[in-house]
Amino acid sequence: MKRYVVTGGAGFIGSGLVRALLARGDGQVRVIDNLLTGHEKNLDEVRPRIAFDRCDIRDYDAVAAAVSDAEVVFHLAAIPSVPRSIREPVPSHEVNVDGAFNVFRACAEAKVQRVVYAASSSAYGDTEVLPKVETMLPRPKSPYAVQKLLGEYYASVFHSSFGLETVSLRFFNVYGERQDPSSPYSGVLSLFMRALIERRSPIIFGDGEQTRDFTYVEDVIGLCLKASDSSGVGGKMYNAGNGGRFSLNHIWELLQKIEGVSLPPRYAPPREGDVHDSQADTTLAQRDLGHDPQYTLEQGLRRTLAWYRTSC
Ligand code: UD1
Repeated sequence: MKRYVVTGGAGFIGSGLVRALLARGDGQVRVIDNLLTGHEKNLDEVRPRIAFDRCDIRDYDAVAAAVSDAEVVFHLAAIPSVPRSIREPVPSHEVNVDGAFNVFRACAEAKVQRVVYAASSSAYGDTEVLPKVETMLPRPKSPYAVQKLLGEYYASVFHSSFGLETVSLRFFNVYGERQDPSSPYSGVLSLFMRALIERRSPIIFGDGEQTRDFTYVEDVIGLCLKASDSSGVGGKMYNAGNGGRFSLNHIWELLQKIEGVSLPPRYAPPREGDVHDSQADTTLAQRDLGHDPQYTLEQGLRRTLAWYRTSC
C-alpha cells in the first residue's frame, strides 16, 4: 500500500485528486488542510476513507508529522488569486513561499519518494509569443506569480541540493466541480457559472478579449497522477494546460448558448497584475509525462455546469 499526502486536499483541485487516488485503490490518503480556502464538505462522502489533519503549512512541525511516513506528496495548498496577493501580500507570501519551503523541507527530511508541486502559469507573465513554452524566461506580474515561481525554484533546488524528487506543474486556469464561487477572488469560470444559474450578468474586467487556456480539473488531476509515476523527471517543470486559448467574451457567449439565455455582461476596468493572454505548449508534458487531455472546453463546461446546477 502506498502512502499519499495531499496538502490542500480539502480545496477544489485537491479534493478531486483525493477521489482519484482513492479510485486507484493502491494506497492510503492523508489530507493536510487549514480550511482557509478549502471546505470539509468537499470531502464529505470520502471522509471515512481518508486521514485528515487540520493543520497549516506555515507550521513546520505539523507538516513534518503529517508527511513523516509518506511516499508521494502532492503539494497543492496555497492562497490562490492574483488580486488577493496584491491586496493581502503577507499571508499570501507566508503560505505560498514559506509554506512551500516547509513542505519541501519536511519531505526531504522524511525521504519522501516524489513530490508533485502545483505551480502556476502566472509565472510566465505577458510573453510576446504564444503558446508559452517551459524554456521561456519567467516574467511574473504579481506577488502571486512571484510566490509560485519561488516555489518552483525551491522544488528544483531541493532536487539538486537534497536529492528530493520533485516535479512542478504549471497549472493553467483550472475549472470544474467544487470550485468555490463564493469569494470575489474566486476563479472566473466559477463566478460565470453561478451568475448563469442565478440569471445574473457577470462582471468582466477589461474588454473581455483577454484569453486563457482554461483546463478542466480532471485533466489536471490526471497529469498530477502521471507526474507522480513518471521516471526521469525529478527537478523538472511542465505546463499543465489544455493547449487552447479562449476569450472571456467567447466563453460567456458559449455559456449563454448552452443555457439558452441572454445576459449581456457588465464591463469594469481591467484588474491590476492581470496577464492578457495565456496558452500552454503541451509538447513537453506529452513527451515526458504522457499528458493527454480528455476534455474539450465545451465538454468541461457542460460537466461543470451540471455540477453547479445541483450544488450551488
Ligand atoms: C491566475 C493564473 C492561474 C492561477 C490563478 C490562481 C494566469 C494566466 N493564470 O489566474 O494559473 O491558477 O491565477 O488564482 O496568470 N475576471 C473577470 N471577472 C471576474 C473575475 C475574473 O473578468 O469576476 C477576469 C480576470 O480579470 C482575468 C480572468 O478573468 O482576466 C481570469 O481571472 P481568474 O479566474 O481570477 O484567474 P487568473 O488571474 O487568470
